[in-house]
Amino acid sequence: MPDKPLDLDFVRAFFPALDDGWAFMENAGGSLAPRTVIDRVRDYMTECHVQPGANAAIAREAEARMRKGHETVAAMINADPDEVVVGPSTTRNAIALAAALRDELVGGEVIVTNLDHEANNGHWRRLAESGVAVREWRVDPETAELEPETLRAMLSERTRLVAFSHCSNITGGPNPVAEIAATVHDAGGRVCVDGVAFAPHASVDVKALDVDFYLFSLYKTYGPHLGAMYGKREHLLKAKGQYFFFHGEDDLPLKMNPGAPNHELTAGCVGVGEYFEALAAHHLDEPADDLHGRMRQVFGIIARHEESLSARFLGFAADHPKIRVIGRTATDRDRRAPTFSFTVAGVRSQDVPALLEARGVAAGAGHFYAPRILDAVGVDPADGVVRCSLAHYNTLAEVDRLIAALREIARD
Ligand SMILES: Cc1ncc(COP(=O)(O)O)c(C=O)c1O
Repeated sequence: MPDKPLDLDFVRAFFPALDDGWAFMENAGGSLAPRTVIDRVRDYMTECHVQPGANAAIAREAEARMRKGHETVAAMINADPDEVVVGPSTTRNAIALAAALRDELVGGEVIVTNLDHEANNGHWRRLAESGVAVREWRVDPETAELEPETLRAMLSERTRLVAFSHCSNITGGPNPVAEIAATVHDAGGRVCVDGVAFAPHASVDVKALDVDFYLFSLYKTYGPHLGAMYGKREHLLKAKGQYFFFHGEDDLPLKMNPGAPNHELTAGCVGVGEYFEALAAHHLDEPADDLHGRMRQVFGIIARHEESLSARFLGFAADHPKIRVIGRTATDRDRRAPTFSFTVAGVRSQDVPALLEARGVAAGAGHFYAPRILDAVGVDPADGVVRCSLAHYNTLAEVDRLIAALREIARD
């Protein structure tokens, strides 16, 4: 029997922030948190706000809750917990990683893209100051897409690392990560993948993708304000520790997490797992054996709903004479996340959010820390694009509200 379609009343009841009546469409900036997460953070702060691991029952309880949160994050991406750093943000994790790998990269080449957010980009580029050759894998300006063949031609025995994204936070278009990783491995390099714009929409399996490093932000994946970084154990062991000197080089993942993890927010990550467990129990007739598997099944149901949101929006926008959508206008779930960036002819992008706000839609405008891609497709990063980024709790009625607002704004 096919699984039930996504029950939006059930889903939306988990998110107290949805009660404010807004059509919230800045999810790529930060998703809303379900009450399971809010409760776990509050419980930790009220019940065990002490130094975890100290010699008292309450401190052991604190440590156990953090460990469970950490294990939840690892299960989300099918990783072992010691291979997952739960740090303050993706940007901070990427800074620590670039510093940790610097000595291994000096004398070789790092390839970055002009598609991506600066988090998995600028810190690698900066290694040029330390003697790393940095090259840029550029999008096709017609399509705003990275072509794997272009990368293939750039790879050589000097390639040490290729940093790219699983999905663009501007175009919503996913890249074939497993295929790219295999190509880079064949050339003797490693990959560092920014999964921030992908993880809120689909299951991530770092083992199946065979990536070397993978980053995503929990606060955009229905969790608290944290970032997670996976690294293959052998790479993390070899990387230079970024915490205090007495944390040994085999002290994983702590040595890669300067300042140590945030206590209550790490504990709060348990709530992300609980949210997906609730969705699984509500929707699945034959749930998989573990959290990762059940999340994969739930994301399959989510994808069908998100596909319908994309079809509704792009059905309006793709052929609109005054709206230019940046990137793919395909609606099928394997080909895009419901993140829509566009410009409106005759209206400054910077003016659009206020016009949408007056019509009950919360969205953003700007370059969203990915100015290079806007430059590449001929959009002035100073004005930027309007971005409406949806999540699974958005409704078709909200998309209709957006469309009605844009009809007025574009005066069609
Ligand atoms: C695609 C992408 N990568 C990386 C980041 C940076 O994430 P963080 O805020 O956790 O540093 C963002 C944030 O917007 C993003 O959209």
